Amino acid sequence: MLSINENFLKLQASYLFSDIAKRVAAFQAKNPQRDVIKLGIGDVTRGLPQVCVSALHKAVDEMAEDATFRGYGPEQGYDFLREAIARNDFQARGVDICADEVFVSDGAKCDTSNIQELFSTDIKVAIPDPVYPVYLDTNVMAGRTGGFVDGRYQSVVYLDSTQKNNFVPALPAEDVDLIYLCFPNNPTGSTITKDELQLWVDYAKQNKAIILFDAAYEAFIRDDSLPRSIYEIDGAKDVAIEFRSFSKNAGFTGTRCAYTVVPKDCAAYDSGGARQALHPLWNRRHCTKFNGVSYPVQRAAEAVYSDAGKAQVRELTDYYMRNAELVRKEIGALGYDLVGGENSPYIWIDGKANSWDFFDMLLNRAGVVCTPGAGFGKCGEGYIRISAFNSYENVERAMRRIREALA
Ligand code: MLT
Repeated sequence: MLSINENFLKLQASYLFSDIAKRVAAFQAKNPQRDVIKLGIGDVTRGLPQVCVSALHKAVDEMAEDATFRGYGPEQGYDFLREAIARNDFQARGVDICADEVFVSDGAKCDTSNIQELFSTDIKVAIPDPVYPVYLDTNVMAGRTGGFVDGRYQSVVYLDSTQKNNFVPALPAEDVDLIYLCFPNNPTGSTITKDELQLWVDYAKQNKAIILFDAAYEAFIRDDSLPRSIYEIDGAKDVAIEFRSFSKNAGFTGTRCAYTVVPKDCAAYDSGGARQALHPLWNRRHCTKFNGVSYPVQRAAEAVYSDAGKAQVRELTDYYMRNAELVRKEIGALGYDLVGGENSPYIWIDGKANSWDFFDMLLNRAGVVCTPGAGFGKCGEGYIRISAFNSYENVERAMRRIREALA
């Protein structure tokens, strides 16, 4: 008899965004005449930057000719993209990250899921609450979390992010080994200062822990004093792995390209207490399990770093940030407390009600889809998240309908 991995049975219901998509589909089937505006999942809506489209076309033409055709590429990514990333995202900001510390992949979701394979299953994991569900679920699947009791996994150290701490969690009171942080934050849209992030890096150094820093929303930072990368913080290269994505800045959610930085100095320990660098482990995993991102897509990602590409990406993110400003203004005017939307495309709203009830009310009365905060964890109960990814016109219409529905 073949046994299953019973850790999968500990997972809660279905994946949040699939669950929401099913509810919305059921609503639309029942109300085919209703027009629904989606401000739920953080999926971009505008076309790719023109430079990326041109780079894609050119690369596809190269693939059509024997002389310029490419088969399997390097699993870690082509040098042209790794070098452009290291130069523009790090070295230009005074951060010493080299091209061979960059691993190109097909998504930050996959990388933040897969990275935990490098670590033992008996470690202590600290996960924010509320949180992007992928960090938690992949640790459940791996068997690190224990059972689910009263809305929480028993072996996880939860880092509560609430209004009291301005949605930036405090250091854990107990020793932990692996720490997930995401700033600008999904789902709350909160940000962390350099001084606050320094505390985490110092903690990780003292405790021989590793920080997994998800910076997928870095392109939405407008306050120049905020860190864009954890490697702007002293000592971070020894204790942090960073995840970035082309999904939200350049609109690659359907095109798929991201990268992970594993500095050569970053290490954890074997059972004998010897320091083991993580770079060769991740490299080994990547080569075994992944065959690289397609050549045309990597050329499109490279184009993001051209002068025109930088301007076009800025225009795209500015567009969504204008939506975020409108949501902040309109929802704030209705008397709700909110955070986010200033350096992030997400606005986190205290709905002063059960968050799934609020979700249902907005869908039924306004035809607007949001994400219920409870889907991101216990501390998300009472909140909803509104995403700024849609057209300005749709966001305006959604705000008008919400105003009318709540009047
Ligand atoms: C979100 O809505 O939280 C994100 O779009 C999910 C993702 O990037 O996978």
